[in-house]
Amino acid sequence: MRILITGTEGYIGSLLAPLVVRAGHEVVGFDTGYFTEAELGPPPEQPYRTIRRDIRDVRREDLEGIDAILHLAGLSNDALGQLSRRLTYQINHLATMRLAKLAREAGVSRFVYASSCSVYGKSAQDLVDETSQVDPQTDYALFKVADECELAELAGDDFSPTFLRNATAYGASPRMRFDLVVNGLAALAWTTHRIAMTSDGTPWRPIVHVLDISRAMMAALEAPREVVHNQVFNVGDDAENFQVRDIAACIGSVFPGCEVSFGAADADQRSYRVAFGKIRGALPGFQCEWTLRRGAEQLHALYAQVGLTEAHLRAKPFTRLHQLRHLVDTGRLDADFYWTRP
Ligand SMILES: NC(=O)c1ccc[n+]([C@@H]2O[C@H](COP(=O)([O-])OP(=O)(O)OC[C@H]3O[C@@H](n4cnc5c(N)ncnc54)[C@H](O)[C@@H]3O)[C@@H](O)[C@H]2O)c1
Repeated sequence: MRILITGTEGYIGSLLAPLVVRAGHEVVGFDTGYFTEAELGPPPEQPYRTIRRDIRDVRREDLEGIDAILHLAGLSNDALGQLSRRLTYQINHLATMRLAKLAREAGVSRFVYASSCSVYGKSAQDLVDETSQVDPQTDYALFKVADECELAELAGDDFSPTFLRNATAYGASPRMRFDLVVNGLAALAWTTHRIAMTSDGTPWRPIVHVLDISRAMMAALEAPREVVHNQVFNVGDDAENFQVRDIAACIGSVFPGCEVSFGAADADQRSYRVAFGKIRGALPGFQCEWTLRRGAEQLHALYAQVGLTEAHLRAKPFTRLHQLRHLVDTGRLDADFYWTRP
């Protein structure tokens, strides 16, 4: 198949795209390159052509001959969404819908959308699954829900959207993020030998390794159409729902000499435990291969290999919010997050 992957220069995309190529597909990347400098460890493999353009300006001709789209490009977490509601709406919602409509017109039959478990918000239920009511607490989550609803309306005989509600990712990627809970805590454990949490760490978070997200996207792409047509799947593993304090404790036990302490209850009210049985049942062959402990060990090995320092931890590209603010403050991006120079 000929696959367009958006967000190929991000944390997930730069691991996913080479996997899709290795599986025998032709890949075209699409990314504006906000975080291309976030390289850590071995450089990303790029055995494919990339269209370097803003997703808001995708063209019909970009989609000619494409069989499927894996759509990852966008402002990628709750904090980024808080930067600007207007731009989150434009980039995460309007541009997604325009891409999907152009894709359907161009005869692209599959559209795999990177949604998020954060659509569940502060769930009153003990355990949420794909049939539970969503409860988005931020603009980021709200526009994920809006995308899911409006993409579902485009579904038809010739167009099959699939919604993957990913848990919070962790693990090594050639374009790293430290603004993800496991990666960030592990980076603190390595550089300062201390995880001093300001919160009590009681909220629940489901987590999933970035390679397992990539494998889930591939599995959705390759599954028979009737299995994934207009379907929502949570991506993760039942055993990988943790309270944040248990994530910190696990990392503390993997990084020698790391002290872990906790603070008071947090204002951040997002807390959810998620059931992941549907994807395992529907996409045989897909099962998460990673656990938190194994991921923490992988991060320990990566941070040792690159000699991770506090300067890395402070470097803007690894924290998406800081990088976007920096690009605007230095005039490299304008107020609409368009590059000021080609
Ligand atoms: N990482 C996670 O924990 C997680 C969890 C659930 C869902 N997701 C979703 O998966 C997707 C990828 O996440 P990630 O962690 O790789 O994020 P990331 O920030 O590392 O990557 C996003 C990529 O999209 C590109 N992009 C952003 N705005 C763009 C625009 N206007 N035009 C073109 N390209 C643009 C960026 O340059 C970047 O390379 C996002 O949609 C995110 O919401 C991620």
